[in-house]
This record gives sequence, structure tokens and C-alpha cells, in this order.
Amino acid sequence: MSVLVTGGAGFIGTHTAVVLHESGRDVVLLDDLSNSSNEAVNAVRSLTSPDLPFVEADAADQAAVGRAIVEYDVDEVIHFAAYKSVSESVEKPLAYYSNNVGSTIGVVQAMIDHGVSRLVFSSSCTVYGEPDEVPVTETSPTRAVNPYGATKLVCEQLLADIAAVSALDVMLLRYFNPVGAHPSGDIGEDPSGVPTNLVPFLMQVAVGRLDRLNVFGDDYNTPDGSAIRDYIHVMDLADGHVAALDALTANTGCVAVNLGTGKGYSVLEVVAAATEVIGAPIPTEVVGRRAGDVEQIWADPTYAAEILGWRATRSLNEMLADHWRWQQQHPTGHKDSN
Ligand code: UD1
Repeated sequence: MSVLVTGGAGFIGTHTAVVLHESGRDVVLLDDLSNSSNEAVNAVRSLTSPDLPFVEADAADQAAVGRAIVEYDVDEVIHFAAYKSVSESVEKPLAYYSNNVGSTIGVVQAMIDHGVSRLVFSSSCTVYGEPDEVPVTETSPTRAVNPYGATKLVCEQLLADIAAVSALDVMLLRYFNPVGAHPSGDIGEDPSGVPTNLVPFLMQVAVGRLDRLNVFGDDYNTPDGSAIRDYIHVMDLADGHVAALDALTANTGCVAVNLGTGKGYSVLEVVAAATEVIGAPIPTEVVGRRAGDVEQIWADPTYAAEILGWRATRSLNEMLADHWRWQQQHPTGHKDSN
């Protein structure tokens, strides 16, 4: 029996694959490499097993997913494969709906065809939009504020609808802001082009690839005026996926769970912590707010602790130190020869 990880060459997929392997599961990676690389797959193999299976395929290709299920005797699936840039989703909504919803349909159809019933789905705190109050619980209102968020909400709804009338059991994991890297520095976030997320951008400034960090707004209604997010170590997130698979054997239906720490940090607090971890100043400039950003959001992690027996344990400094190690060892990502 094994677990199929779609998007297995991506940021969260690679880290989760390593932790799944450590938990004793047989892991199969599936990825079309559209936003990742063979080097990422090889890095996972060097941290797990040189024989770890990798299927190069689009998760929307139901037949290819089905073949992988049969060939590797798959009995659980974690579906990460998706486009994830908010700004790109605004420019290319059709591509986002087509890819994100299409791949979810492809994966679920293949699962149903082959009698696989346990699915963990990669969702996002973006489904809460601008929250009415913080922290957000799983029963807080959901709303889409951009096409990327809309695709996550559509996928959540379609999975709930299918679970209601089939044997499918689903955990919808709503991630807050994943950062950090494996402590070895061998795998990490490897954005193509200029990063849009805070920590990857900040790290590329620190390593000298970018000139300075723009802080998007210091006039929010927060203590220091910059926006607040719940940053979570990608290794904590990976642990959360193992806990979710374990919990799926006891839970039936479709359940949404927040994966966050329960603590928010402002952009300026992250910059200050990174300056300390890196040991050098990070050139920054305060500029206007970024369109579509919410003011503040962090998770109520209570339900995750109850249903998964899981809590995030790693600190902001640990996230930044691990991210920095990865960035130093691989200044230009997985393709770097260092
Ligand atoms: C974004 C998406 C979220 C998605 C997540 C992962 C939005 C509204 N949300 O989260 O749906 O799941 O990415 O891809 O886009 N910041 C700067 N300077 C920068 C970059 C970011 O000040 O160069 C600030 C942002 O304004 C924000 C915070 O840092 O306040 C975090 O930004 P980011 O890392 O992009 O994540 P989110 O926007 O929270």
C-alpha cells in the first residue's frame, strides 16, 4: 500500500514526502514539473530512498493517475498539485479554474474508479478572505476574493458534494502561510521567477539576488501598521498531513481543518526576526498596500489539535533559520549546482 502525492515535486509536496517516508509509508510522487524540477525529485530521493517512485504526469490526466494507483497499489492520496499565484490568477482566471478544478476532478475520478477512498486536499486560508474576526475557526464564513481563492472554494465544495454520496473521505487542510525548509537545507521553496511571497522575496534580498524588500503598507489597523499573517513551518505542515492521513481512518465524510500556529506576526516583525537570524540588515522600503491583501488573519488551531492530535511546534526564528540555510546552500534553487 502506498500514498500518492500529487504536486510531489513542489514546496509542500517535497517536505511532506520526506515526512511520510519517515512515518513508514511508501510514497509515490506525481508531478508534471510545470513549476518544479527533476532536481527537486532527486533531492527527495536523497533524503528518502533512491528508488522512490516518481510519475511525470498532469494530475488532471485521470488515466495517468489511475495507472499510478494500480501500479503502486495506492490506498491514500494527498492532492497538492495546483497553480498558486494570486496575481497570476487574476490575469489568467480560466487557466486557474481549468488547472486547479480540473486536476481535482481528475484525481477524484481516478480514485473512485479504483476504489481509493482517503484523500487529503491542499486548501488555503485564502478561503476566509478578509475575516470578520480573528482568529478564524473552521466555521468562520468563507468567501473568495480572487480567482485562486475561488478555485480552492470550488474544490472544497465539489469534494464535500462527492463525499456526501460516495465512500470518499476527505480532509480539507486550510494552510496559513507556509515558510521554512527541511533542516538539512536540501529541499526548500523554489519559486520560478521573482517570488511574490514575503519570506522567499526577503531571502533573495538577503542572498543578494534582489535589491530590496518592498513592505506593502504600514497604514493597516495593526500595532505597527503592517499586515499580520500566521506563518507556519513547512515541516509542521508536513507533520499535519501525516496526522490527517492517520485521522482519516477514523473520520468519514468531508472535514475542513486549519493548519496554522495560532499566532500572527506583522511584516515588520518578520523582517526584524529575519535580520537577527541572518545577522545582516535587509534593505526595505515601505510602499503602498498590495491590491487584494487582507489586513490580518491567523488561525484558531484548536480543532486541528482535537481531530488530528497535531499542533505546530516550530518558532518563527526556526522557520527563518531553516529557510535561510536552504537559500544559502541553493541561492538559485534546486537547479543550483552548490
Ligand atoms: C498569499 C495568498 C494566499 C496563498 C499564499 C501562498 C493573497 C491575498 N493571499 O498569501 O492565498 O495561499 O500567498 O501562496 O495574496 N508582503 C510584503 N512584501 C512582499 C511580499 C509580501 O510586504 O514583497 C506582505 C504582504 O502584503 C502580506 C505578507 O507580506 O501582508 C504575506 O504575503 P505573502 O507571503 O505574499 O502571503 P499572503 O498574501 O498572506
